[in-house]
Amino acid sequence: MSAYTLLTNISSLVTVDAHGGEYRTGPTMMDIGEIHNGAVLMDSQIVAVGPAKQIEREYADQIAQARIVDCTGQTVLPGFVDAHTHMVFAGSRSHEFAARLAGKPYAQIAAEGGGILTTMRAVRESSVDDLAAVCRRLVTNAMRHGTTTVEIKSGYGLSLESELKLLEAAHLVSTTSPQEIHITFLGAHDVPPEYRTGVAPFNQEGYVQHVIEEMLPAVKAQGFATACDVFADVGFFSVPQAERILEAAKAMGFALHVHADEISNIGASSMAARVQALSADHLEHTSPDDIARMRDAGVVAMLLPGTAYTLRLPFPDARKFISEGLVVALASDCNPGSNYSENMQTALSIACAALHFSIEEAITAATLHGAHALRIAKRKGSIEVGKDADVVVYDVPSYTDLVYHYGVNHAVRTFIGGEEVWTACSTR
Ligand code: NIG
Ligand code: FE
Repeated sequence: MSAYTLLTNISSLVTVDAHGGEYRTGPTMMDIGEIHNGAVLMDSQIVAVGPAKQIEREYADQIAQARIVDCTGQTVLPGFVDAHTHMVFAGSRSHEFAARLAGKPYAQIAAEGGGILTTMRAVRESSVDDLAAVCRRLVTNAMRHGTTTVEIKSGYGLSLESELKLLEAAHLVSTTSPQEIHITFLGAHDVPPEYRTGVAPFNQEGYVQHVIEEMLPAVKAQGFATACDVFADVGFFSVPQAERILEAAKAMGFALHVHADEISNIGASSMAARVQALSADHLEHTSPDDIARMRDAGVVAMLLPGTAYTLRLPFPDARKFISEGLVVALASDCNPGSNYSENMQTALSIACAALHFSIEEAITAATLHGAHALRIAKRKGSIEVGKDADVVVYDVPSYTDLVYHYGVNHAVRTFIGGEEVWTACSTR
């Protein structure tokens, strides 16, 4: 079999060309580098990209050996880089979802021992293989919807043993999945029952110490997680607690992410700037001062439209983040509680309809900027010569249709490292 593949006659080829850069802020988020009647020649990396006629003329030798895929009437995009998910868990929270629809707040369910703790109970009863099976299904389904790189957080074990189990399950999936998977330790996701003694906020401090002194060193020794995250919000962890955990993690060489300003603003996104997190995520309640601090510290603003939609939170002020020049990324936040969707096409649709992204900005945010949030934009997130050949074919004539014609899966072929890892039964 030839190592080369040529995607040609692409009606709408969206390169998200960053011209060697790692992000594009402000008005330049609009520059998605669309080529009509384009072609992409690839082996495991992108070899050439441009107008079909030009590529066919300049690369005739390679094309003579290539597998040719005709993409007439179709759209090609870089694979989505979904840089914030919780795809490793067990059980269902559909009953809590129904209760929330009936008006019960997310924070109240959590305070009553449900929410994250509901999932924790299911995780503690599961084996690594059980957890890997759930994770694999979600990761694979994400691939069928155009996601070629995924970040996965632990955080539903909340004990040393169960957190290591979740990380092992995510690692197991990463060894068999064609997607590149980045694993994050989120031990400080909620306070487990063992530390819920006395009155609220219980023995939160005891758990914070446990995370710092026992969990982080064990997670480091296990070697699967490369980043650490903390849920810093009212009813979860305070800013000083989160900062201590994150500083300890940083000292051990972990990259940092923060769940910030989701339910309320307790200063978590400004703290993300202080600890120089790669990203601050959620940001439904972020203030103008926080935005300036994040921008100055180079923290990516990771917006999660599906979560605000599902939890009926105020939508983050995406226009403000973009106009203030932050690197704005979009991710699914796929998890069993606040957003049970692994479909990034849906995330784009909500981002445009509810957060006032343009379609072009949303595409930049879900590809190049997702990659930058993981600091892998030198290799991923755009279709540029020398980058990994992670590209997706959609059966729509223009990229605008991905958002316009929403709620259905338009992806028909997913390539990762130049390999066609998924093909729809019918591509026409
Ligand atoms: O990103 N905010 C914290 N963590 C998840 C939700 C976790 C859950 O409800 O299971 C989130 O929304
Ligand atoms: Fe999350």
